[in-house]
Amino acid sequence: AEDGAVVLGVARGDQACGEFGHGRMLEASELLEELIAYLAPKPLLGQRVLVTAGPTFEAIDPVRGITNLSSGKMGFAIARAAREAGADVTLIAGPVHLPTPRGVQRIDVDSASNMLSAATQRAQSATIFIATAAVADWRPAQAADHKIKKDGSGEARQLSFVENPDILAEIAHSPRAQSGELYCVGFAAESENLEANAQAKRARKGVPLLVANIGPATFGRDDNALLLVDDEGVLELPHASKRVLAQQLIAEIARRVSGLEA
Ligand code: CTP
Repeated sequence: AEDGAVVLGVARGDQACGEFGHGRMLEASELLEELIAYLAPKPLLGQRVLVTAGPTFEAIDPVRGITNLSSGKMGFAIARAAREAGADVTLIAGPVHLPTPRGVQRIDVDSASNMLSAATQRAQSATIFIATAAVADWRPAQAADHKIKKDGSGEARQLSFVENPDILAEIAHSPRAQSGELYCVGFAAESENLEANAQAKRARKGVPLLVANIGPATFGRDDNALLLVDDEGVLELPHASKRVLAQQLIAEIARRVSGLEA
């Protein structure tokens, strides 16, 4: 490694001799992921990219909570594409069942509040922030310490909710983002009027680039279509796999960030 060679392994796990530990060959899929990353163009070299992904989980009591149908696939694909493009990538993930892209540092969180603390801390050293997480807009006003029991009365139970912090808006209004040291990208999951809603959301969140998609059409799927809204106008990335869209989006972000630096 000191001579400049890239060392990919070894992997840890069950060994043929019956022991457990370091010494396995990496899986073929992991080797392929590393080779693709090694050979990819590096327009984000030197950048530190922070990505939020997946849903959040807001506890009602120790056994229940509210969440949403976000799979995290788009955010994980973006983290992978950013790493391939040469960035140092941190991925803050809500509860999802996805493997961590190779070479990406992952921080698992559950609630919006936990995601906010992890994101604000990491945003202090990041140069690009991409908020793909489907953060719950509300959380129960109080999470009960013990499981809430039904009382058999058949009466409706009331739960009250308070608004969650807006992670993207908070970070986008921070001094580093305002001074241009941190480039912020928001996502918008809409169910109609994509372009108009995206323009309004971009202004409201205070981000230079907003990426819109039709939420119900993409949640959980492996494909999507994106609409990029920024100062230059609107750019459509037509229907494709999330993997391809993530690579295209990262190229678009790299172009805008290098334009800022030039
Ligand atoms: N977002 C966030 N924190 C929140 C809510 C949203 O960081 N509490 C981010 C999302 O990660 C996304 C963007 O803000 O990048 C827009 O999320 P979206 O759910 O589409 O919009 P909302 O802000 O929830 O607005 P609305 O419900 O009015 O559509």
